[in-house]
Amino acid sequence: MAFSKIWYTVALGLLLPFSYAHTDFFTSIGHMTDLINTEKDLVVSLKDYIKAEESKLEQIKKWAEKLDQLTDTATKDPEGFLGHPVNAFKLMKRLNTEWGELESLVLKDMSDGFISNMTIQRQFFPNDEDQTGAAKALLRLQDTYNLDTDTLSRGNLPAEDCFELGKIAYTEADYYHTELWMEQALKQLDEGEVSSADKVYILDYLSYAVYQQGDLGKAMMLTKRLLELDPEHQRANGNMKYFEYIMAKEKETNKSSTDSEGQMEKETEVKKKDYLPERRKYEMLCRGEGLKMTPRRQKRLFCRYYDGNRNPRYILGPVKQEDEWDKPRIVRFLDIISDEEIETVKELAKPRLSRATVHDPETGKLTTAHYRVSKSAWLSGYESPVVSRINTRIQDLTGLDVSTAEELQVANYGVGGQYEPHFDFGRKDEPDAFKELGTGNRIATWLFYMSDVSAGGATVFPEVGASVWPKKGTAVFWYNLFPSGEGDYSTRHAACPVLVGNKWVSNKWLHERGQEFRRPCTLSELE
Ligand code: OGA
Ligand code: FE2
Repeated sequence: MAFSKIWYTVALGLLLPFSYAHTDFFTSIGHMTDLINTEKDLVVSLKDYIKAEESKLEQIKKWAEKLDQLTDTATKDPEGFLGHPVNAFKLMKRLNTEWGELESLVLKDMSDGFISNMTIQRQFFPNDEDQTGAAKALLRLQDTYNLDTDTLSRGNLPAEDCFELGKIAYTEADYYHTELWMEQALKQLDEGEVSSADKVYILDYLSYAVYQQGDLGKAMMLTKRLLELDPEHQRANGNMKYFEYIMAKEKETNKSSTDSEGQMEKETEVKKKDYLPERRKYEMLCRGEGLKMTPRRQKRLFCRYYDGNRNPRYILGPVKQEDEWDKPRIVRFLDIISDEEIETVKELAKPRLSRATVHDPETGKLTTAHYRVSKSAWLSGYESPVVSRINTRIQDLTGLDVSTAEELQVANYGVGGQYEPHFDFGRKDEPDAFKELGTGNRIATWLFYMSDVSAGGATVFPEVGASVWPKKGTAVFWYNLFPSGEGDYSTRHAACPVLVGNKWVSNKWLHERGQEFRRPCTLSELE
């Protein structure tokens, strides 16, 4: 159908033709707070500009009033007026110099300060990619947390913004969200909202999205509505004929095959019941649903004081340890990193935060990916005693050698930031994953929570139905590999999108080398 192409052009036309090195603002909060300050600064200089412009107008007004009076008197009796030599002189002076000065005043550009400030700041503004990124984050959150379009939009998003979100979903071929947001835009216009959004455009997108999802009847109804507003609309007229044709054809085939269809419906229903794709499990766990813990198992989860297996540094001051999950075993350490340490780690990481990358299995190179949206930085133990102290703590409490571990990774997730389900260890089919490190596979993961998260942001394990909620100052630890060196597939996990607030974590990936005597190999594979 030709009309999808036109839609595409409409959407592309909105993209501005410039780009520059940008920082992916939408992926973390740290950089977005700078933008708030920039905006505040711009408002101040905009107000200065208004003041200057107002005082200029005030001066001009005074001139006008003065001259109004003068010319009034002068025109009443021009000869009498000019008969006075002072008046004659003043007229010469006014016309020769003062009107010229007034002209300069009128022409004077008061916007200098504001415009130059704007030009400087604009270099650091978010670009189209950031705007789209933020919109996509909103769509992702809407899905994960079952947020309803009306509640999200009410009072916050005018119809043109709903339209904008619908268009972004459209360019992603995400017709489900296109429909939701176009419908919301339409509803707000129907309720009388004054807007620059145009019902004809909205109906155009909406009917296409509905058609793409297979609701021919509704697509027809919407196209009819469009044609009432714009009877000459070419594409809509064409579509209407096409819909009628398809409708007629479907009716004919339906007549002959109603029985088999009933059968098919039943079959898909059965399938739906037992099968939940990983994505659905992940989203449910993020919402705090679908936790697979039984009271019987729960009873065997304990908390205790732990001295790192009689580590001299912890005998007198053991740490609080809680069982979070049994299989795979996940433990949480409480009060394990202080607020001061957290601040230091964040400050060290901030200037180095950059968009987190993943290994592309095809090219073997590091790239950015939609499934990992956050910013991260690596900190070495050499650069700060705090980092070094943290590394030692991990070694003491896990009993594992940290000299073969990767450096401390610090990550910051902004609103919508997430890391979709993944394994931390390298699979059999990617033996080269950590080859250059020469320290074997990632035997275990230590993850510090360095902030509370207002909503969302859990670490979830969709294979086993576990979720771990961020709590500032705590850390969780689990083994990714069985003692045999085999990967434990039940450790597949994800970082849920942050809904409100901002999430800071730091993690240490421990490797196999150096653990030979600390965690000896066993004979059976999956023990
Ligand atoms: C990771 C990870 C979980 C989280 O960085 O590999 O799984 O909650 N993080 O941030
Ligand atoms: Fe991970």
